[in-house]
Amino acid sequence: MPLWTSDRYTSQEAFDLESQRIFGRSWMCVAHSSDIPNAGSFIRVELGGESVLLVRNRSGALAGMLNICRHRGAQLCLEDQGDFGKSIRCSYHGWTYGLDGRLVGVPWRDKLPPGTGDRHLHSVSVTEWLGYVWVNLDEKASPLSEQVDPLIRDRFGETNPIAHYETERLKVTHKITYDVRANWKILWENFDECYHCLTMHPELCAAVPQFRGGYGTVTGPQGLGAPLADEATGFSMSGRPVAPTLPKVPAEDERTFYGILLWPNVSIVFVPDHVFCMRLEPQGPDRTRVVGEWLFHPDVADDPMFSPEDAVKVLDVTNREDFDACERVQLGAHSRSFDDSQVYSPFEHRIDEFRSWVDANLVQ
Ligand code: FES
Ligand SMILES: [Fe+2]
Repeated sequence: MPLWTSDRYTSQEAFDLESQRIFGRSWMCVAHSSDIPNAGSFIRVELGGESVLLVRNRSGALAGMLNICRHRGAQLCLEDQGDFGKSIRCSYHGWTYGLDGRLVGVPWRDKLPPGTGDRHLHSVSVTEWLGYVWVNLDEKASPLSEQVDPLIRDRFGETNPIAHYETERLKVTHKITYDVRANWKILWENFDECYHCLTMHPELCAAVPQFRGGYGTVTGPQGLGAPLADEATGFSMSGRPVAPTLPKVPAEDERTFYGILLWPNVSIVFVPDHVFCMRLEPQGPDRTRVVGEWLFHPDVADDPMFSPEDAVKVLDVTNREDFDACERVQLGAHSRSFDDSQVYSPFEHRIDEFRSWVDANLVQ
């Protein structure tokens, strides 16, 4: 396996390999399910070097397919999001596909070679979990659970609290997209440790004092969340909740912060009155788009008087602090001395685990 030299964070070649072997072979979270609400609704995403369409059909299920016409290879759709209506029609020669990607119409079909009618769109695997859309370019991918369960077990042990938050029922109430000028691995290496929290995150440390101790929640003891500050009754800038505790959160977690990292592209925070989900969308060796979404109970989200601002701010400020640091590491990564400028505290043990995970995935 190559060493963790600076070019792994800066070169297009390294990014292309990761794109093919990690983003192109893993389950990737690409959107909230509500982004594809109705029969005919679609989104288009770039993944592992491919353009992919995700379409909801009439039974409510999602279909995933490569965005390439099986006639002469034109991209079918250039919009990021929209509605196909009843079918997907290539505007070049008029081949038409159903919402499940099956070829349903070909002009002068009797003049085309036998077997033409079987040229359905290439499908990709798609599933929904926690109210999010997850895609795997491999049509025969093993289930998403095989990817996430080991990470969940590793973090939460036997005490997995995820179900208590009923995330799939919650509504996206606030969304922020960050354009971070740093390699996606630098972001994970940052989230993988809390040695920086005391220096960089006064707001987060005020809300959850455990972060001051170097071990946050993702590097702290397995299974344990972190208690909110003594005087706090909610996770927010003010220390007050912005909404009632979610209905199934047990009493012992009414003042607990949980965090989990689901490599390669999702991080989730569970706090008593909401859930924060962040997905990384790697754009290039030195660019990562990050989409952060704050999810609240529908009763709260639908109240026109509701404002999540106090809760949004504490993580938004923290995210920006993190991304500033990541961008400075990215700048450093271009130096010839980057490779020998790395030393790790005990708080940073997960960086090594993350790198081993990346290396294991890069193997052919
Ligand atoms: S390329 Fe799509 S119909 Fe010809
Ligand atoms: Fe941080």
